[in-house]
Amino acid sequence: MDDLVSLCKRRGFIFQSGEIYGGMQGMYDFGPLGVELKNNLKQAWWSSMIYENDNIEGLDAAILSNPTVLKYSGHEDTFSDPMVDCKSCKSRWRSDLLEDNKCPGCGSSDLTEPRPFNLMFKTNIGPIDDGETFGYLRPETAQSIFTNFKNVVDSSSKSLPFGIAQIGKAFRNEITPRNFIFRVREFEQMELEFFVAPGTDEEWHKKWVDMRLLWWEQQGVSSENIELYDVPKDELAHYSKGTIDVMYKFPHGLEELEGIANRTDFDLGSHSKKQDELNITANVMKNSSSNTRLAIQDQNTNEWVVPYVIEPSAGVERGILAIMNEAYNVEQLENGKERTVLKLKPHLSPIKAAVIPLKKNNEELVALASEVKNSLQKLNLGRIILENTGNIGKGYRRHDEIGTPLCITIDFDSLENKTATIRDRDSMEQEVVAIGELQNYLIKKING
Ligand code: GAP
Repeated sequence: MDDLVSLCKRRGFIFQSGEIYGGMQGMYDFGPLGVELKNNLKQAWWSSMIYENDNIEGLDAAILSNPTVLKYSGHEDTFSDPMVDCKSCKSRWRSDLLEDNKCPGCGSSDLTEPRPFNLMFKTNIGPIDDGETFGYLRPETAQSIFTNFKNVVDSSSKSLPFGIAQIGKAFRNEITPRNFIFRVREFEQMELEFFVAPGTDEEWHKKWVDMRLLWWEQQGVSSENIELYDVPKDELAHYSKGTIDVMYKFPHGLEELEGIANRTDFDLGSHSKKQDELNITANVMKNSSSNTRLAIQDQNTNEWVVPYVIEPSAGVERGILAIMNEAYNVEQLENGKERTVLKLKPHLSPIKAAVIPLKKNNEELVALASEVKNSLQKLNLGRIILENTGNIGKGYRRHDEIGTPLCITIDFDSLENKTATIRDRDSMEQEVVAIGELQNYLIKKING
């Protein structure tokens, strides 16, 4: 973990937020390379969900949430962690994460009884701070998918099974944020709510577990480092009939990367009006506020059905930590030196190719190199940079460490023969390629 944290800071992936004022616990900023990696990961998820499935639609809903939504979702009552105070050093801890019931700060066993601490951030809305007009920063992106269910069904004519997917910020006032970006207070989720006919839910649950495992593998997360955890009944969230957690061997231990839950008809049922007229199986709170029936009409029987929901819910930050952990390699070279190389899948690499003129001050070389950079940039595969430092060896080292799949050197032969030398990040092999062929070469490398 220390090596990863250091690389992330040194090369501009991830910084502690507000570091110049001492930082803030549980908050991180993504730097120039981090934002590219994060966007690439989110794009890979978005494509796999929405572009590759005609029965999944996208959504980008508000983060500030109406408290009524989080009342009926159950979050106001149940979204809490057990908290204890250390009576000796006055620190606060999540009691379920304590080892031996001792304070991790001072080692004392003199702790208060655990009490629930609600994790939602509350904020005042509008100019009057009377404690009445408040909203929550959403603790999961899922709820706005449920509240928009009818809008999406009506505007896109969907029938079961179908899904609504969303990527966006979520906030939790974690009692003890820890392990770099693993447990933070502000993070992003990639969530799919997949609506299915009751009775087909268990089959779809299994299918989504398999599909999600395949997707993580395609992002470079080895199946050897993944374990599935079938959450026992007494640990299930209030909405879940069954949850499979995708557990990953993070540098600090085996922990949840993604949760795949069978949320039954709990959410649509609890946000619905006229609940008595619907055949809701989950134990929902009586709703007197909703103005909409969140159900779908069966095309054969014309009956109103409240769909069941299968929810694969992944954290972007945890995904990035797992992917960087997998990609990070320190290799021994034949000359006795070491090289650090980030073997990211090319579609995730923050920089797709670096174009390096052999000499920094040679106008002709630099002009040809920028021409090559511009022609590759136009492909829209991600960021291509012109690395005009005049030091090829240093350029290779930097680009190995940040995971750039290809370095393209423009030298004097390039001026004469219209060729360039491509160096592959993983094999370190070099190949001379016609400049006219570079676009195709890059497309193949990035898209596979
Ligand atoms: N909608 C369901 C839901 O939110 P969750 O298991 O609480 O379920 C889903 O969260 C995913 O969000 C987790 O698997 C994890 O990847 C990510 N996540 C949750 N809390 C997080 C935190 N404090 N910091 C970073 N990621 C978090």
